[in-house]
Amino acid sequence: MRLLVTGGAGFVGATLALAFKRDFPAWEITALDNLYRKGSELSLPRLAAAGVEFRRGDVRHRQDIEECDGFDLLIECSAEPSAKAGYGDSPDYLIDTNLGGAAHCLEACRKNGAGMIFLSTSRVYPLGGLRALPLRETPEGLDPAVDAAGPGWSHDGITTGFPLAGPRSLYGATKLGAELLITEYGHAYDLPCVVTRAGMISGPWQMGKVDQGVIVLWAARHLFGGKLAYVGWGGAGQQRRDVLHVDDLYDLMRCQVETLADHRGRVFNAGGGRRNAISLRALTAACEERAGRRIAIGSVAETHASDIPWYVTDNAEVTAATGWRPTRDLDGILDDVFDWLRAHRETLEPLLAG
Ligand SMILES: NC(=O)c1ccc[n+]([C@@H]2O[C@H](COP(=O)([O-])OP(=O)(O)OC[C@H]3O[C@@H](n4cnc5c(N)ncnc54)[C@H](O)[C@@H]3O)[C@@H](O)[C@H]2O)c1
Repeated sequence: MRLLVTGGAGFVGATLALAFKRDFPAWEITALDNLYRKGSELSLPRLAAAGVEFRRGDVRHRQDIEECDGFDLLIECSAEPSAKAGYGDSPDYLIDTNLGGAAHCLEACRKNGAGMIFLSTSRVYPLGGLRALPLRETPEGLDPAVDAAGPGWSHDGITTGFPLAGPRSLYGATKLGAELLITEYGHAYDLPCVVTRAGMISGPWQMGKVDQGVIVLWAARHLFGGKLAYVGWGGAGQQRRDVLHVDDLYDLMRCQVETLADHRGRVFNAGGGRRNAISLRALTAACEERAGRRIAIGSVAETHASDIPWYVTDNAEVTAATGWRPTRDLDGILDDVFDWLRAHRETLEPLLAG
């Protein structure tokens, strides 16, 4: 197996490349990345030590991917992954990377007769539909009632049947556009492709920042110091997300690689699920306990144009198809993140304190 991981120095890409190399040492694995994300350079010695080849390249440039020719499978993890990207600024980089880059990856797959596994996002679901969910304030944060349900959603979360009409953020649009191309390439050129719409992912080596990677950001600021604020939805920190451990994502990706032919053309939701849903306010309490101190948290009532109040993944479909379900709970995710921050404090503090 010759595996190409685009965005292979990023949080997800490097974790997957390293885990595949650990479990399948005979595979030739190449990680391609342009090191756009601050902190991705920290992956390079880890990749080298494990025997994963690193190539500095840019998915916006077709020839950079062509230089990796000869692969059997491509896992597309390169992205500008922020839902806030492009607002108040040019969306060029976002579109050229997330949509144009995915198109270049597909062309390379076509030429190599290779399959593609695509990391998509829960943010393909529209803002209007998610904002219209009948949420109530509960001690755990915002939540629909236990017996509440509608098209593509219930108390258990969002399914792939959630209606797709309406704006979804520029980021979500680039990902949905890429998904459409993947479906067409799979159909027109008989390529085995699978799409996974992931909810929030976290774990060690995520370079958390204000607009992406909030679990690590919250943990790092509690440990190292720095500013934090509850932004949007009144500024009370009641918004809620489910969190998936990146090692659980790897378990799913491994299962998809091993059963690619069975699931070709499928689009799945995958996330931490209801059990792993947490509000920002509850995240603060969990971080205070682990860091052994409190920091001041600001409040901004105004909601960003790309924001949503609640996202929980309904994993029923992916579990029925593959048997996979997340196994790492929130406490385990936070413990792993804090252990990693403490073990690499000298390197991480300058990057993650604010
Ligand atoms: N982390 C999450 O919570 C989450 C949730 C849902 C989906 N995803 C998706 O998973 C994938 C991986 O995200 P991540 O969390 O690892 O983000 P990340 O920013 O850590 O990794 C993305 C990598 O892509 C690289 N990159 C950016 N532009 C590039 C370009 N033009 N050419 C080559 N490389 C480029 C970056 O340098 C970075 O190393 C993305 O597609 C993202 O949209 C992430």
